Amino acid sequence: SKRSYHEKVLDHYNKPRNVGSMAKNDTDVGTGLVGAPACGDVMKLQIRVDPNDNTISDVKFKTFGCGSAIASSSYLTELVRGMTLEQAARIKNTEIAKELCLPPVKLHCSMLAEDAIKSAISNYYTKNPKAKVTDLGGTGASMPKIEVETVTASAATA
Ligand code: FES
Repeated sequence: SKRSYHEKVLDHYNKPRNVGSMAKNDTDVGTGLVGAPACGDVMKLQIRVDPNDNTISDVKFKTFGCGSAIASSSYLTELVRGMTLEQAARIKNTEIAKELCLPPVKLHCSMLAEDAIKSAISNYYTKNPKAKVTDLGGTGASMPKIEVETVTASAATA
């Protein structure tokens, strides 16, 4: 039927990749926690960064949300592994939505994934300010906005 999830969504939903957590206080780990105000769904995404080349060496997520949000975060973890922070910060939710064939009503679910990776990168930069200096490629200017979203998400889970 028209309302059923696309098979790619179901695949990620049934076999989510990289579910889990990392030690939040590890200096090499960036944690993003974001929420979607419209539905209350929450996504936690963590990245482990190789400080030698600023690439994402590992990534884990936990999503309390709909099937599209789980699929979006699962797909995102596969997408960002091996990327530099700068590359990962440029991921747009539309790429995720396109890959998973999300309908318009589910676009905000993929937005949650975009917000989550940006929030995780922002958190990593906060812990490792020097990494940001060596990795500024024009994306840095948009970072402060993400802190606000992180605060919103924390409030949503409280
Ligand atoms: Fe809100 Fe999917 S319905 S994240």
